[in-house]
Amino acid sequence: MDDKRPLRIGLIGFGCVGQGFYDILQRQPELGLTITRIAVKSPDKPRTLPAERFSFRADELLADPNLDLLVEVIDDPAEAFRLVSAALRQGRRIVSANKAMVARHLPELVALQREFGGTLLYEAAVCGSIPIIRTLDAYFSHEPLRAVSGIFNGSSNYVLTRMSEEGSDYGPALAEAQALGFAETDPALDMGAFDPRSKAVILAAHAFGLLLNPDEVLNLGIEGVGAADIAYAASLGQKIKVIAGLYRLPNGRVTALVTPQLLGPESPFFNVEHEFNGVAIEAEYAGPHFLQGRGAGGHPTGSAVLADVQALRSGFRYGYTKQAARFQAQLVEGLEVEVYLRHPSAAALGQALDWLRLPAQAVLPGTDGTQATGSVGLAALGQWRVALREAGVFVARLGEVGLIPEVPAEAETAHALA
Ligand SMILES: NC(=O)c1ccc[n+]([C@@H]2O[C@H](COP(=O)([O-])OP(=O)(O)OC[C@H]3O[C@@H](n4cnc5c(N)ncnc54)[C@H](OP(=O)(O)O)[C@@H]3O)[C@@H](O)[C@H]2O)c1
Repeated sequence: MDDKRPLRIGLIGFGCVGQGFYDILQRQPELGLTITRIAVKSPDKPRTLPAERFSFRADELLADPNLDLLVEVIDDPAEAFRLVSAALRQGRRIVSANKAMVARHLPELVALQREFGGTLLYEAAVCGSIPIIRTLDAYFSHEPLRAVSGIFNGSSNYVLTRMSEEGSDYGPALAEAQALGFAETDPALDMGAFDPRSKAVILAAHAFGLLLNPDEVLNLGIEGVGAADIAYAASLGQKIKVIAGLYRLPNGRVTALVTPQLLGPESPFFNVEHEFNGVAIEAEYAGPHFLQGRGAGGHPTGSAVLADVQALRSGFRYGYTKQAARFQAQLVEGLEVEVYLRHPSAAALGQALDWLRLPAQAVLPGTDGTQATGSVGLAALGQWRVALREAGVFVARLGEVGLIPEVPAEAETAHALA
């Protein structure tokens, strides 16, 4: 390709991220990047650019041989997969920000790149402006990692921050996050921890070579969080954050989960507030690393899209090197974690304790039966997660995930004889 002529970009989607990316390019003409065509969905929406700039059929951009690369930033994962996979079948270079789509279809997307020679980059899909995918994929490609964890969702972090600094209720704090453009079109994706789960699945591929099915990764959200939970954490000198974690277990396998967690000031995530995201990497030889940045918003995410466009220009592609490392996943079976649970009704909390096989003594004294703590199996949490969400029970982790100790055979026999 002639490097002196401007690169012609086809932009699919002109919402928060698409406009942010467009704006960044307008301010930096020296980059030599031109958005030649833009596709959107609705012909009737008012636009900030003249009507003739828009096409309403993204397929026209796919069929345009004059476009050097495509940027897909739409909010419809099924349509995004159709467009991105069609582009890869043509051997094209394409950037996407759609984490739900990438997490669900990663094995097919990797296979399409290998078969047809195209390239897909998706840095903007995980933690907005934080350069985490390329860091894991390229910089740490040959470094064994112990853990990659963090705050991967700006919207729920914004809600939790507002609840603890202003004493705001959940509803108004969520409305604020939506008004500021930090929330996904469907807020359940953010508040139910589906969005950070998609991001954890994507990072699992680059950090540990694991291609996980998002549905099999435990995710607990903050829809049930209330002032009582923020106050409980504060009474311990802690805060509640939604932490997505990929952890190597003592048996060498890797687990993945996303849950609210109580954290103290010693945690690198304690002061990651508002829409900011933070990622901690525990590397075997290089030690601990921490990255913090804006996890959402037009300009930060548009900046990550621009970084991918420039990377495509220089021929970069993901190596997926860790796929050779042969890690195995252990998602819930044989694992346990200490949790905190609350429901305003003692009867509803009692029901949750039964589901999770926690004893009545798990109830915290002085809470009228509305708050409890105890150690539960991840399998039980996975089995009851929908029921817990529907019942409005708030559940948060109090510590790290551990292996359930195996009971020695003699002890089992002795117990049976007793
Ligand atoms: N917002 C963030 O901070 C953020 C951060 C990281 C990643 N992301 C990801 O980036 C993507 C875009 O998010 P967003 O916040 O920019 O969404 P958005 O503001 O809702 O904008 C979506 C855009 O996609 C267009 N669109 C939808 N379906 C289309 C189709 N079939 N063909 C062509 N255009 C179509 C819409 O067209 P109309 O204008 O006609 O409605 C709109 O312009 C999502 O995958 C999201 O998960 C967002």
